[in-house]
Amino acid sequence: MTGASFSLETEFCPDVTPESDAVRRAGEIIRAGGLVGFPTETVYGLGADARNSEAVAAIFRAKGRPQDNPLICHIAHPEELDTLARTVPEAARRLAETYWPGPLTIILPCRPEVPKEVTAGLDTVGIRLPSHPVARALIEASGTPIAAPSGNRSGRPSPTTAAHMWEDMAGRIDMILDGGPCTVGVESTVVTLAAPVPRLLRPGGITLEQLRAVLGEVEVDKALRQKIDDSEKVSAPGMKYRHSAPAAPVTAVTGDPDRSAAYILSQIGPDDGVICYEEYLDRFLGAAGWVRSIGREDRIDEQARRVFDALRSFDSTGAKRIFAQCPEETGIGLAVANRLKKAAGFHVVNV
Ligand code: TXA
Ligand code: MG
Repeated sequence: MTGASFSLETEFCPDVTPESDAVRRAGEIIRAGGLVGFPTETVYGLGADARNSEAVAAIFRAKGRPQDNPLICHIAHPEELDTLARTVPEAARRLAETYWPGPLTIILPCRPEVPKEVTAGLDTVGIRLPSHPVARALIEASGTPIAAPSGNRSGRPSPTTAAHMWEDMAGRIDMILDGGPCTVGVESTVVTLAAPVPRLLRPGGITLEQLRAVLGEVEVDKALRQKIDDSEKVSAPGMKYRHSAPAAPVTAVTGDPDRSAAYILSQIGPDDGVICYEEYLDRFLGAAGWVRSIGREDRIDEQARRVFDALRSFDSTGAKRIFAQCPEETGIGLAVANRLKKAAGFHVVNV
């Protein structure tokens, strides 16, 4: 159904609800081996039948995704955990009970029947039960777990609206379901339980503090804080790529917002772009060529919803460099700061 030539006619379905006929048809497309862009509470996903190797291989072609980066399997009921995972420790059940449906991916040892295209040859699999009603209706309609990465072309910021998905995937996939803008805005938290001590591989919608409340000790993978060499082995292969990045180079500026604003003002000119807190817009207008608000300084949930859209918006401008005020790493701020730092290739200035 989906070849590498990318001349597909992509059907765009507006105003989709769980009851829409478009969801039933999307389920048929998934069952037939096709690709569907669909909303989740975190970001839009690019879905295929997780049990169909060829369909999953087509995801990698549509995205231009490196083959060594595994995909998350999306399920509609917690019992499906056991159909994908070889062993399900008590800790996984507690996490699932507490945070599913929701923005949490649990990595577990995987059953041998899970296609290697999904796991990129690892002996583990990432599983998530999303809370978005359209996502859940689509999984039900498909009658199979759905393997889905974020729906962006590889390297670009994740899509948080169906329009972003269209920008990246029109002509490459069969259908896009528009279920409105994503309410979380950063991807799911990825935690592995296939390690002696649970380890956070990607911060996301469920915070580190929330994980520790259920699991006790949780280690933080070093790939969260620093750039990883191409040759290095990493726990979540996705962490080593420059990610969620606009075309122009990004500098993430951490520290007190007044000082980060002063630093950025001292650096920028009319060819540069700025991502700043809402309260600082006035200071940058006139100084930078393009200024985007990431949300109010004390509204980290708003910042999470807007960070990818802000990054993506610079690609339609002539900005030569981008400077971003970067929030503190508490709560979901850890995820927002991580996405800005990844977009910056970990080029971070602390003021
Ligand atoms: O919120 C989300 O998780 C979204 C929506 C669509 O559900 N999906 C998403 O998928 O962000 P993706 O492929 O863009 O990111 C998945 C991340 C990657 O960093 C990948 O390396 C990691 O999860 N991952 C997947 N399976 C893994 C495994 N078995 N072991 C370690 N890391 C894994
Ligand atoms: Mg992604």
